[in-house]
Amino acid sequence: MNWGIDDSGAHTIQQVATGLYRTQALYVATKLGVADLLSQGTQSAEALALQLKVHPDRLNRVLRYLCSLGVFEQVEAGLYANNAASLHLKANEQGSMGDLALLFGEEFYQAWGSLLEAVRTGRDAFGIEFGCSLFEYLEDNQPRARAFDRAMAGGSTFFEAVPEAYDFSPFQSVVDVGGGNGAALIPLLAQYPRLKGVLFDAASVLEAAARDLDRQGLAERCQLVPGDFFKSVPAGGAVYLLSRVLHDWTDEQCLRILRNCREAIVPGGKLKVLERLVPGPLALGADLNMLAVTQGRERTREEMDALMRNSGFALEQVHELPLEVKLLAAGPA
Ligand SMILES: C[S@@+](CC[C@H](N)C(=O)[O-])C[C@H]1O[C@@H](n2cnc3c(N)ncnc32)[C@H](O)[C@@H]1O
Repeated sequence: MNWGIDDSGAHTIQQVATGLYRTQALYVATKLGVADLLSQGTQSAEALALQLKVHPDRLNRVLRYLCSLGVFEQVEAGLYANNAASLHLKANEQGSMGDLALLFGEEFYQAWGSLLEAVRTGRDAFGIEFGCSLFEYLEDNQPRARAFDRAMAGGSTFFEAVPEAYDFSPFQSVVDVGGGNGAALIPLLAQYPRLKGVLFDAASVLEAAARDLDRQGLAERCQLVPGDFFKSVPAGGAVYLLSRVLHDWTDEQCLRILRNCREAIVPGGKLKVLERLVPGPLALGADLNMLAVTQGRERTREEMDALMRNSGFALEQVHELPLEVKLLAAGPA
């Protein structure tokens, strides 16, 4: 073995084995609220540490590492400023990705600790760690549930691209099934003034969504319907939207949701599914996260096609959205 030569294979292993550095460094800076403090201007690690009541040298080491990854800017040694990436970590901003960093650093990080057991047993790692499914956990932890909704919505710039990617003007109503806080529905209603929305999700999720829709002045055009998509979905919609819902569930569970949409849709209606498709690089990672935190999976185009065929839909078109997300357009077969 030649120890002096950079072995690209060893470098790969080094990079992959140390992936936790990134998740936890980002988590620490987000949890401490560094980006919010830096929005007042450039500050030293000492000044930040004093306000945050943390150890200055240790904070400095976390921040200089994050700078090396492109999160925050090191103006000079020990002096930090926000950059385009760290601005996404500010709390309480529209589209903040802070809750995403916290979710991955807390619950998801803990769940991933049981990935080996999940691969061995076929159980979901989240269930092994927390003793219940992700959605049961959220139902019992409302502050974390709201944070989960914000994490889902945060940085989801692809929602903004949906109204452009597909012409919704022929349709009068959209039912957003498992719509969370309405992050997909809001840009659609804003772009198409004739469109009426139905946001369908668990009752506790809808309470928070109502506030968001109100803030956007869209409350009057959007009905909030609580329910369980495994039992039924609101009937009579022209478009049924399933955004990042199917990837949470097994094929059998997806078929139940899709068949309920098929039963509810008006003749000539359309189904729109937003998901990443395997084998995109982001989809492959997200697929493992689904394995860890749910019983679901990311799917190939062929697998999505089969789910649609087996539930009475025919896949018609696949539109590209940012961040590797696809809009799969289908109609009743
Ligand atoms: C991964 S989130 C996606 C949220 C949103 N569509 C988006 O793309 O940001 C899945 C959503 O499904 C909802 N959900 C889970 N189980 C449900 C059920 N049985 N009936 C209705 N909604 C459910 C959750 O509350 C959550 O809002």
